[in-house]
Amino acid sequence: MDKIRIRGGRPLQGSIQIGGAKNAALPLMTACLLTDEPLVLKNLPFLVDITTLSHLLVQHGVSVTMPGAESADEPGHVLELRAKRIVSTTAPYDLVRRMRASVLVLGPLVARIGQARVSLPGGCAIGTRPVDLHIKALEALGATIAIEKGYIHATAPKGLKGGEIVFPTVSVGATENALMAAALAEGESVIVNAAREPEIGDLARCLNSMGARIEGAGSERITVTGVPRLHGATHSVIPDRIETGTYMMAAAIAGGELELVGASYDMVAAAARALEGTGVAVERLPAGIKVSRRANRLKGIDIATAPFPGFPTDLQAQFMALMATADGDSIITETIFENRFMHVPELNRMGADINVQGASASIRGVAKLNGAPVMATDLRASVSLVLAGLAAEGETLVNRVYHLDRGYERLEAKLAACGAAIERVAGEG
Ligand code: EPZ
Repeated sequence: MDKIRIRGGRPLQGSIQIGGAKNAALPLMTACLLTDEPLVLKNLPFLVDITTLSHLLVQHGVSVTMPGAESADEPGHVLELRAKRIVSTTAPYDLVRRMRASVLVLGPLVARIGQARVSLPGGCAIGTRPVDLHIKALEALGATIAIEKGYIHATAPKGLKGGEIVFPTVSVGATENALMAAALAEGESVIVNAAREPEIGDLARCLNSMGARIEGAGSERITVTGVPRLHGATHSVIPDRIETGTYMMAAAIAGGELELVGASYDMVAAAARALEGTGVAVERLPAGIKVSRRANRLKGIDIATAPFPGFPTDLQAQFMALMATADGDSIITETIFENRFMHVPELNRMGADINVQGASASIRGVAKLNGAPVMATDLRASVSLVLAGLAAEGETLVNRVYHLDRGYERLEAKLAACGAAIERVAGEG
């Protein structure tokens, strides 16, 4: 398995092109199941998760082709997805367990074919992550659900019917499944307490350009007037706000100045405010964001994760690496996932002083971190160790790089181009 080697202590200087959002791309790809016409997605990131989902879609009968290469004026990859005929309505355990976002085929398959059999994803490194809200949403639209032998079996032989879906807690994935299912349901649906993440707005825009009638995406109440069929479309994926936030934290922890080209300030406003609170300057540019750290030391501040527009859970680990090297104490509270502190023991091995109690971590900033061999069990925890490595004295070797490859395209190349001493070391197996 590949590793990433970092020699810390070098400030960053330069510009980084932000890619298309992984977490917008995945639901957008499953939306192709809603129509027999081609869906062309532009500005896709080239990531392992995109390939994994392509494999799942292919076994449902989708043809996946790459109609054009990346060009200078249009960065990112292009995929054409065409679900002319659905040949299988089963999403098997072997593919779903590798990537939980596979559950997003549930809504589109039931809406188009009237049935779906999707493996229960099971727990994962960051928590138990149930799918009860996805199931409740489909039931509210008239689907019959049975859980059999580890599979969700959803049927709606006469098609889905519009209904009211009231989510007790905010769920990004369940809102996405509900939107896609309601798009083809008969009559009007209302989604109450919908997720407001930018990825929801992007999905709604794409569905509307496929002929759907969705209003209110981006607010907590979304109205969907079902249509009998959807058609093909071409859609460009929004920039990745978590990749953006990660490089903002990289500039903050390593020092120097980074321009993040293609980034959207509004999508990372909570992270920008938090960084400004620590002493980092964040500036809106016409084509992105500039982040600079001139102060020698940053100030520790408290944050709590929350659904959008709050501070994202997907940037919590990265912010903790930063707080580990700031002056003073800080408290980070994780409110979305119950087990998202796996980076803590690894950061402590690098000399951080972090204590976890329940959903909160108390961080006492230290004068310096020390490089060490480290390993993490999920994507964002892994990248927090890379950030810590940028600031640490000596060499850090981050193992299990395949986690990073799920969500960061050419991470080491992008950072190295801005002056970081970082390289990928090819490993066996
Ligand atoms: C999305 O996951 C993202 N993944 C996650 O990104 C992100 O951390 C998360 O939203 C929160 O922002 C994708 O978009 C592919 P949720 P999702 O449903 O949709 C509970 C990354 O690193 N819940 O909003 O699965 C759940 O357990 C990742 O890129 C239920 O109880 O998250 C969690 O506590 C990882 N029942 C909370 O809701 C359900 O049926 C929010 O989860 C569904 C969720």
